[in-house]
Amino acid sequence: MGGGVVIRTRFTETFGITHPVVQGGMMWVGRAELAAAVSEAGGLGIITALTQPTPADLAAEIERARRLTDRPIGVNLTILPTISPPPYAEYVRAAIDSGITILETAGANPEPYLDLLKAHGVRVIHKCTSVRHAVKAERVGVDAVSIDGFECAGHPGEDDIGGLVLIPATADRITIPFIASGGIADGRGLAAALALGADGVNMGSRFLCSTESPVSDAVKQRIVEASELDTELIFRTLNNTARVASNEVSREVVRILDEGGDFASVRDLVAGARGRRVFDDGDLDAGIWSVGVVQGLIHDVPSAGDIVRRTVAEAEEVLRRRSSALLPV
Ligand SMILES: Cc1cc2nc3c(=O)[nH]c(=O)nc-3n(C[C@H](O)[C@H](O)[C@H](O)COP(=O)(O)O)c2cc1C
Repeated sequence: MGGGVVIRTRFTETFGITHPVVQGGMMWVGRAELAAAVSEAGGLGIITALTQPTPADLAAEIERARRLTDRPIGVNLTILPTISPPPYAEYVRAAIDSGITILETAGANPEPYLDLLKAHGVRVIHKCTSVRHAVKAERVGVDAVSIDGFECAGHPGEDDIGGLVLIPATADRITIPFIASGGIADGRGLAAALALGADGVNMGSRFLCSTESPVSDAVKQRIVEASELDTELIFRTLNNTARVASNEVSREVVRILDEGGDFASVRDLVAGARGRRVFDDGDLDAGIWSVGVVQGLIHDVPSAGDIVRRTVAEAEEVLRRRSSALLPV
């Protein structure tokens, strides 16, 4: 060993990784370079399936990641109710055929895919935002849970329970390994999550603001400058809450919906193509884009590997420093 430290947990053991640090699935962001950099550093990088236009493109993206690292890499499959759903089963098949052994599911119950996944030796991490869904995920047979608190970027659910309660409440109710996410960006967050009963952490916003993240530098700079106050919760009245960056568009969406508007009245504002312009062109007010309150703790744009390494080193320091406060009496 090179003088560093590893924090071994049930999660690292189950998934064959060195550090209990996961880069969560991120639409438009979870591509080969980022996922491979996280995995190469000993964490678990995750390629977002639906960022790829077709299942064949997903297979090609996995192949690209494979050329960058031979460590475990996961694929995220986010199953959301839409009028014309993507061919989820074909994306699952592409991941299996590409040799993927770790799948992160989110959005809906993964049960319909579990038999197929298990038959091919794929282990499943199900991400959810409530204890009851974590309990159900364990019951249907997933291998691990990722519990996403109210602080998180993207969809925090409708219960509004922050990690300080959600994480230990989950620890009390399930027996399979679980990781904590939402509001974690550094080793203090990892140490806290471990103390609260989690077996590791999942970070989104932190990795969005890394050198390998394929978004415009203007987005990364905005995250560095922004505080924990600079997010909006949109779609509250539609029971489909999403936490996004505060900008002209998200504030307008909140205003329209608060005044009784329906989805049709904001559809154009929240169109995915507008959000992509933010990420691709750095036009920060072009559309909505996901980021969490944890941006208040993000002050730089390091490499993804450095994020993994320093998160673990800092967690170790926090745990040591705090335990040195334990004095015999
Ligand atoms: C830009 C962005 C896109 C995201 N897209 C997805 C997604 O497609 N599917 C998903 O399950 N989670 C998605 N998430 C959520 C993250 O995987 C993770 O759960 C969340 O960011 C954790 O909260 P944090 O940002 O406070 O770390 C996204 C997050 C960000 C920042």
